[in-house]
Amino acid sequence: MTEITLRRPDDWHLHLRDGEMLSAVAPESARHFGRAIIMPNLVPPVVTGAEAVAYRERILAAVPDGADFTPLMTLYLTEATDPADVVKAKQDGIVTAVKLYPAGATTNSASGVRDFDKVRPVLEAMAEASIPLCVHGEVVDAEIDIFDREAVFIERVLDPIRRATPGLKVVMEHITTKDGVDYARSGGDTLGATITTHHLVINRNHILVGGIKPHYYCLPVAKRESHRLALLEAATSGDATFFLGTDSAPHVDPAKESGCGCAGCFTATNTMSILAEVFEAAGALDRLEAFTSLNGPAFYGLAPNDARTTLRKGAPVSYPAKIETGDGPLTVFDPGFPLHWQVL
Ligand code: DOR
Ligand code: ZN
Repeated sequence: MTEITLRRPDDWHLHLRDGEMLSAVAPESARHFGRAIIMPNLVPPVVTGAEAVAYRERILAAVPDGADFTPLMTLYLTEATDPADVVKAKQDGIVTAVKLYPAGATTNSASGVRDFDKVRPVLEAMAEASIPLCVHGEVVDAEIDIFDREAVFIERVLDPIRRATPGLKVVMEHITTKDGVDYARSGGDTLGATITTHHLVINRNHILVGGIKPHYYCLPVAKRESHRLALLEAATSGDATFFLGTDSAPHVDPAKESGCGCAGCFTATNTMSILAEVFEAAGALDRLEAFTSLNGPAFYGLAPNDARTTLRKGAPVSYPAKIETGDGPLTVFDPGFPLHWQVL
């Protein structure tokens, strides 16, 4: 096969930031994606419906004229979130989902949740109103090894929340382990999971062997190879539980290449070429569309995009190694292998 046509893909987990960075990265996502679930971890976070409306306006202003791109907004769940506000923001068509960050788990998560009992009323209202909860699934306890934080979160936090709130739709965001794959598969149609591009490509050796590679550092951190293979199997299986959420998370080079580097891989620019390469190598090109364009909308109760995207295979495609932003240079994720699939 040298050409493949898909429904226009969506990105079910994306960081667009604000200001100069937003201006630089919004066109990168708008080029290849029809919709994206926009993460609310700005400083300060997007907590209210009014803040989500204002942020959506700034995003739309940063998207090139005529681009076929719709930002789907989320609210950042805090212990002070009012259930009625969340339900109203959904009913008013402002937000698509709510994001749960355990406090301290990752970039700009300080306003997240410490005591999960405090958000029970919000979760119940969300289950009632069919509003999906997007979950950053890592515990933050200092005594839990960083490579075990996802598996422990499932057991100690996620499973109890789901048992206590039947009917709550949950997306396990950016799963990185076989434990995550297995739990997502067992969850029935109220449970979905996004998988990033980079977690299909790298394992922890890519970060640590031969010198530390800050541009491969993200959270949840990439795990050992057997976990990457479980993610690859899940993504390429066609199983409707799994769909693309790139977690493309831009940080300028000085913030990455630092004594305390920020977590995040910037993959918006070359994700579709990388995924085509990865799915082809797995003998699953015919299931790429399910992962990028069908399973996500089905989980969120939306129709797939009407527009189509064609990728053609040929000589290696080149993407810029860096994008210049008003805040400084931003490195594009390097998959470490040539990319033959070009998005036409
Ligand atoms: O690598 C990550 N970067 N993981 C997250 O959960 C947050 C994100 C960011 O905002 O930079
Ligand atoms: Zn993220």
